[in-house]
Amino acid sequence: MMDKDPLISIIIPTYNEAENIADLIESLERNFKKHNLNDFEIIVVDDNSPDRTWKIVEELSSSDRRIRLVKRINERGLASAVLKGISESRGEYILIMDADFQHPPEIAPKLVKSAINENADIVVASRYIKGGGVEGWSKVRLFISKFATFLAYAAVRESRYTTDPLSGFFVVRKSFVEKRKLNPRGYKILLEIIARNPPWKPKVIDIPYVFGNRRSGKSKLGANTIVNYLLHLLDLSTITKFAIVGFLGTLINLGIMDLVMKLSKSYDLGSVLGIETSILGNFVLNDIWTFRKKLSGKAMARLAGYHGSSLGSAITTYVTMKILHVFLGINPLLGQLIGILAGFAVNYSLSSRVIWR
Ligand code: GDD
Ligand code: MN
Repeated sequence: MMDKDPLISIIIPTYNEAENIADLIESLERNFKKHNLNDFEIIVVDDNSPDRTWKIVEELSSSDRRIRLVKRINERGLASAVLKGISESRGEYILIMDADFQHPPEIAPKLVKSAINENADIVVASRYIKGGGVEGWSKVRLFISKFATFLAYAAVRESRYTTDPLSGFFVVRKSFVEKRKLNPRGYKILLEIIARNPPWKPKVIDIPYVFGNRRSGKSKLGANTIVNYLLHLLDLSTITKFAIVGFLGTLINLGIMDLVMKLSKSYDLGSVLGIETSILGNFVLNDIWTFRKKLSGKAMARLAGYHGSSLGSAITTYVTMKILHVFLGINPLLGQLIGILAGFAVNYSLSSRVIWR
């Protein structure tokens, strides 16, 4: 018989945590009981750890029906493990935390309590508010972490809802993540959850904690996590992608103009053909990359619309070039570049409003 759904699902991703997992589960059960929160399940998502972490969980789950093991055989990865746990969860509130005691189990019930009592969508355990911190980190490591947070703030507006968007220790209301596509390659799962948000602003609460030392075993996150993080940020940041496309378009524009001027001796023709070629190139790149997930209607209609929304910046480019050249004697290519920059802001605001809403 299936039990009724629990209020809380605690999700713990594990890879080689045999020395930590039993103690952590015991400590969680004790701490939740202390706060009179007994209606929970604990889901451990293990990727077939060589140290047989899963075996320990399997045994615990046979005597405690609140404990569940999800064992993945052919997959590896922290973010995808967390997403797997979410899809298996039955609770109204989902708590995600590490197995190595760097996320103190005493804080866990407080996060859930605050989500329930204050009706929050997300409660983040934060290292970067008063009362929070990190234990045993070098200045360099702290700087990298803060810089990574700064990049998130710059690239993804919604990450500013919390002081610690890179936290791996948080509660989220199930209904907030349920019907949305989250990318398992999105390695910072909280960032992914916040960034792919529904149109309304979620209620987010931060609770301070001190990120402690690992109790046993060692970290699994290596240097490639930094690269993955940057790629993830780029994936979430439409404006950055749009800017990169714009930069490439500028090169195309000037390159074609230069070529046409050499062939035809007409800078007017060069300007116009440069502009049109870059519009076509930008359209293709934005369509297959920048706004890939937001396509609506037919491609031809988007292309026509993009021409319409580019009209302002195209005219701005040509007119600026012409004026600078005729009245100030500025080189047409340089004039074109200045014109392109002037038209850029107009183009972004129109495109994101009209074509790729
Ligand atoms: N299932 C599964 N698969 N679990 C994994 C995997 C994996 O491939 N890799 C790591 N885990 C589990 C670990 O067993 C641990 O419970 C948790 O995920 C965190 O892994 P650590 O290796 O301890 O990561 P960390 O301490 O370097 O990083 C933590 O702190 C960062 C803050 O600086 C994580 O919580 C990060 O998300 C967090 O940003
Ligand atoms: Mn850790």
